[in-house]
Amino acid sequence: MSTDTSTDMRIAVFGANGYQGKLVVAELARRGIDAVLVGRDPDRLARAAAAVGVPDAERRVATVQDAPGLVGALRGCDAVINCAGPFTASGTQVVRAAIAGGLHCVDTSGEQLHIRAVFDTFGTAAREAGVAVVPATTDACVPVDLLAHLVAARLGPLDELVSTHVIAGGGAPSRGSLRSAIGTIEAIRAGGLVHEDGDWRPATDAPRTAVTLPGEPGATPVAPFPLPEVITVPRHVAVRRMAGLTEAGLTERLNRPVPPEVVDSLPEGPTGEERRRQRFRYVLDALGTGGRRARGIVRGSDTYGTTAVIAVESARRLAAEPPGAGVLAPAQAFGAADFLDHLGRHGLRWSIEEPPAG
Ligand SMILES: NC(=O)c1ccc[n+]([C@@H]2O[C@H](COP(=O)([O-])OP(=O)(O)OC[C@H]3O[C@@H](n4cnc5c(N)ncnc54)[C@H](OP(=O)(O)O)[C@@H]3O)[C@@H](O)[C@H]2O)c1
Repeated sequence: MSTDTSTDMRIAVFGANGYQGKLVVAELARRGIDAVLVGRDPDRLARAAAAVGVPDAERRVATVQDAPGLVGALRGCDAVINCAGPFTASGTQVVRAAIAGGLHCVDTSGEQLHIRAVFDTFGTAAREAGVAVVPATTDACVPVDLLAHLVAARLGPLDELVSTHVIAGGGAPSRGSLRSAIGTIEAIRAGGLVHEDGDWRPATDAPRTAVTLPGEPGATPVAPFPLPEVITVPRHVAVRRMAGLTEAGLTERLNRPVPPEVVDSLPEGPTGEERRRQRFRYVLDALGTGGRRARGIVRGSDTYGTTAVIAVESARRLAAEPPGAGVLAPAQAFGAADFLDHLGRHGLRWSIEEPPAG
């Protein structure tokens, strides 16, 4: 069972001076958990600590290129939360350092390629080191992965699972989100990976071109997208085919990426007011092998703030109640209903609906 405050625990935040990193440090402070701010620039770390209201928090300088230095910077911590995207470029180095240092590891990646690489590369090493690694502890992957587990518990083995993400409002994405999209633009253009008959393969077709969202009269155009949960859910749910979709407008915008030099000149991320006005809906349409259907729905606001809550709670649970060692999907690491109920206290709503019989 989770509690809302923790003492006697130290959690490192790598990329602590970034937009998401500062929200994570602030959430650790709110929870009463000691944070160690780690990054490659001492001045930026100091400014971040002051901006978040923890000017005296411990700060350590390390780069991903210096593996021994990174292991040293994580020493004495119970877990690390890696917020240093783009993750496909450098995220695995942090996982490697965490395993070498014997601490649990989560990250805020939404990048399908990175998440798959973590599962493919580190399972044995994490088990041998006795640490748990849970990539993609974000507003999207954790609730959807946990909800998929509950949907499958109700329907049994699934023939098809389609996850659709729709986000409205919230201002512009953070600079880090834009850099992650630029860094994985080929995967985005290709629609990412689907899971089919026991393996992952490039998406060649869309399971649907429009999805009717809860409470809306008309259908929303959608397109294939490399969603993280397509990598995590089939590890604990028996499903013949799983695919990810997002609103077609988002994929069109991402297909025309902002040049990197323009990204550098943008605000670091949305304002607090923009985040509060944002609304996200993640919809899971499931078809059981027996023909029964169900829809799981996650609703919330503030993707970055919710990610901070989720990443901190994930790292806290790994440190306080270790689920077993290895690279784990959210539902392999955490109790699904219990974690979702914890998120309910932070404004996230979830439900499972079944069409009336007959
Ligand atoms: N639902 C989701 O999928 C979701 C939700 C929230 C966040 N995210 C992801 O979280 C990531 C962070 O976003 P953000 O807006 O916080 O980005 P940001 O403001 O650009 O911050 C990135 C941080 O990572 C550090 N960093 C980057 N590359 C590094 C490297 N090679 N070595 C050391 N440090 C490095 C940066 O350090 P410097 O300042 O020294 O450059 C900075 O502290 C993005 O990938 C974003 O997509 C995903």
